[in-house]
Amino acid sequence: MSEFDPPKSGAASMLVRGGEPVHGEIHVRGSKNALPKAMVAALLTSEKCRLTNISAITDLGVVEELITITGGDVHHSNDQIEITAHSFTELSETDVVRLHATSRIPVLTTAVSLHRSGRAIIAAPGGCEIGPRPVDFHLNVLRAFGARDSQFENHIELVADRLRGARVRLPFPSVGATEQFLFASSLAEGNSELTNAAIEPEILDLVAVLQKMGAIISVEPNRTIRVTGVESLHGFDHRVIGDRLEAASWASLALATAGEITVRGVQQQLLSTFLNMFRRAGGDFTIDADSDVLTFHRARRMLRPLALETDVHPGFMTDWQSPFVTALTQADGVSVVHETVYEDRLGYTDALRSLGAQIQVFTECLGPTRCRFGAANHRHSAVVVGPTKLHGAELSIPDLRAGFSYVIAAAAAEGESLLHGVDLLDRGYSDFRAKLSAVGIDHR
Ligand code: EPZ
Repeated sequence: MSEFDPPKSGAASMLVRGGEPVHGEIHVRGSKNALPKAMVAALLTSEKCRLTNISAITDLGVVEELITITGGDVHHSNDQIEITAHSFTELSETDVVRLHATSRIPVLTTAVSLHRSGRAIIAAPGGCEIGPRPVDFHLNVLRAFGARDSQFENHIELVADRLRGARVRLPFPSVGATEQFLFASSLAEGNSELTNAAIEPEILDLVAVLQKMGAIISVEPNRTIRVTGVESLHGFDHRVIGDRLEAASWASLALATAGEITVRGVQQQLLSTFLNMFRRAGGDFTIDADSDVLTFHRARRMLRPLALETDVHPGFMTDWQSPFVTALTQADGVSVVHETVYEDRLGYTDALRSLGAQIQVFTECLGPTRCRFGAANHRHSAVVVGPTKLHGAELSIPDLRAGFSYVIAAAAAEGESLLHGVDLLDRGYSDFRAKLSAVGIDHR
């Protein structure tokens, strides 16, 4: 007899029966945080561009709509997307306000719009609510390239003749602002330099795309990126890197439930820091010769507690944090977590406590680094006491990674859990219901 009324078909809710180790194999495709950026790059040319290794995630829909509204063609078939932005009309204020509210990607088209039409509009961007997530760095980058901006009630208008090469230093190695710099500098007049840049694998994949298009970009030591602007860019053909965030989520599920999952499609080197922490916690993995088939399991019955501090690449990724910390609720001892990238990314621990986890959240910096949030009263550190026996509960999913950590907790828990808002997971986990079945999780 079920504790909850089963969700109606098509409802964005899911009943998960937990308590069994997972076993199975899943195939991870193109990175949620690389693919949409490559699609934006296609707007920098009127020639045809092709992308392969496509994951079926809803975040792509926003970019496809944006390309179509600006006058481009998008052909999306199973494993490839073809884009031809033969013309470009800048977005209207209404479209900007609507599209910008749905995800972080549209703000990345600002430099593109300035290149192609001399005008652009920025509105408050959407995406996961894990902190205020302002775009001030983006604006400073664009101003440095000569864009002039005017503030209006709910949007900012920017105009520019031709963007001119610039030297910019980021206050924090922001992924989005680095991407904005790459889009601006590739077609700007003269040379540009970005210091304190983000160097995530998704950034290097975008650099590879732009280089295929004819750009001149060098990623140098000490987070410095140098670019010589070119007159025009041409089409490209590119296979996007696998999604290392999705791979680490499934690995954390195997760790939490003492199961075994084989993940195909993500290169070992994209996960290097995660693999080290996975092994420190008492997990282990085998990797095939091509280094893109990894099998994750526990190396010992009880997991070890850890001190975990997130950081920008090559540190421990903030997007790995919530799924991995959920597994640490099963470790034998006290783990300490310090989130240094987002000021409000520990909210999900309230829900884990309702399943029986023992987690205390703090505003102090509980880690070796005194981070930006130290003195600002942000709940960005946590102490996790384990092992705790988790039991089923009813939860509402607030954002993508927290959502997957709820799936992990529900799978590790005795009894049933009812998860609401699971369609949010479609934003970044392709075919995840089929994958849950593939690893033996009883859900409906
Ligand atoms: C990208 O977000 C990813 N999203 C995020 O993944 C990821 O967590 C993040 O990079 C860090 O790796 C996409 O690629 C779509 P940032 P982005 O600019 O570019 C502050 C997921 O779960 N900041 O590197 O928005 C900001 O508030 C998502 O897949 C400013 O203050 O991240 C944050 O504290 C979540 N001003 C920090 O920098 C700015 O103008 C890092 O943000 C820009 C950023």
